[in-house]
Amino acid sequence: MIVKNRLTMLKRCLTRALSTSTGAVRWWGRVDRASKDPINGVTEAFLADPSSNKINLGVGAYLDDEGKPVVLQCVREAEAKIAASQFLGSISTAVSSKYVEESVKLVYGRDSDVIKEGTYAGVQALSGTGACRLFAELQRRFYPGSMIYLPDPTWSNHHNIWRDAQVCKRTFRYYDPDTKGINFAALVDDIKNAPNGSFFLLHPCAHNPTGIDPTEEQWQEISYLFKVKNHFPFFDMAYQGVASGDLERDANAIRIFLKDGHLIGCAQSFAKNMGLCGHRIGCLSVLCDDKRQGVTIKSQLQQIARAMYGSPPLHGMLLVSTILGDPEIKRLWVKEMKVMANRVQRMRATLRQVLEKLGSPLNWEHITNQVGMFCFSGLSPDQVDQLARDFHIYMILDGRMSMAGVTTGNVNYLANAIHEVTRNGEESRILCRIST
Ligand SMILES: Cc1ncc(COP(=O)(O)O)c(C=O)c1O
Repeated sequence: MIVKNRLTMLKRCLTRALSTSTGAVRWWGRVDRASKDPINGVTEAFLADPSSNKINLGVGAYLDDEGKPVVLQCVREAEAKIAASQFLGSISTAVSSKYVEESVKLVYGRDSDVIKEGTYAGVQALSGTGACRLFAELQRRFYPGSMIYLPDPTWSNHHNIWRDAQVCKRTFRYYDPDTKGINFAALVDDIKNAPNGSFFLLHPCAHNPTGIDPTEEQWQEISYLFKVKNHFPFFDMAYQGVASGDLERDANAIRIFLKDGHLIGCAQSFAKNMGLCGHRIGCLSVLCDDKRQGVTIKSQLQQIARAMYGSPPLHGMLLVSTILGDPEIKRLWVKEMKVMANRVQRMRATLRQVLEKLGSPLNWEHITNQVGMFCFSGLSPDQVDQLARDFHIYMILDGRMSMAGVTTGNVNYLANAIHEVTRNGEESRILCRIST
């Protein structure tokens, strides 16, 4: 009898194991297709269009006045220096520490106490995205139950990053579609009304997608309110140097917070300002009370990274540390960054000028008031559709145009097309939250 029972149980277990393994083999059959990334959708549509007049205003990477991607001369010189020094044979932790030190000097200032006293935890990260992801994970692990406030609107991937880290998100008001400027009163209200000690994500310069940054006085007020409310500021610095053409000026918001004694977090990216998007090179830093705490936090960040992707790639890190560590190459970089920023500013001015000359009934001042790579045009989703359909001009549905795609050769065509789709005087007051 006992033997018979045991045999029956064994049979049942086997049957269950078999049926489970059949289920497991077919697990992907239950996976739904992921929603399309808005930016990739724009690029796909652009590539599929055979028109010779087509313009891609979706991608945020810098292009030259011929619409071609650029490898900066400073990067070429750093490449040559790395090749000559056979660096790869002698990589040590000292090299990556130097990389982090040079990176954080850019945001906090080389003469700041933070740098002098080494009171920070800093790690190389997989570009700006990876730096945000590491921070979100740190937040979840060591401050469970905390939330992050994201600006409305913001770079859409911020939502994905904190969602995947399983940190609850809220938004704070930032943009006013009526004035196409900052809604400062609402922003202040939201900061005041958030529970004390909340996490806020802030864009220190060239806010994506609106291109609108708080003024110096407004940053001072924000910093003051953060002190009063004991909020934690996390800065996502994706465009240092390409907003104004001046590294120091673009770090001004962070310097204000630093002066006010905040402990802050900062994600840095070299994708735009060095044109190194494909290298995935960035840095995450978190300011600490003292050096010892910095070592502790760094060890946790390294452990998080280890489980996610082991260690970060070397080549981009060598390029950036060579550029930042060699005064001559760094000077060249600063010059090239100014060229990029100036070209974008020139295209903003020309686009506005042509629209005004065409007699557009709309106010286009915001094109030149906004800064950085993106122009939050105010075009409605229908107008964006019409631009693609009738003029082969592609941008994401919220009307965000990458000014990097505007050139001397296509700016007149673009202005004429925008004039055509807006000539009845209508524009969007709808804010789509799909910027990438
Ligand atoms: C605000 C913001 N943060 C982060 C990133 C991420 O950049 P990357 O991961 O390419 O460095 C971007 C890129 O578009 C951005 O606009």
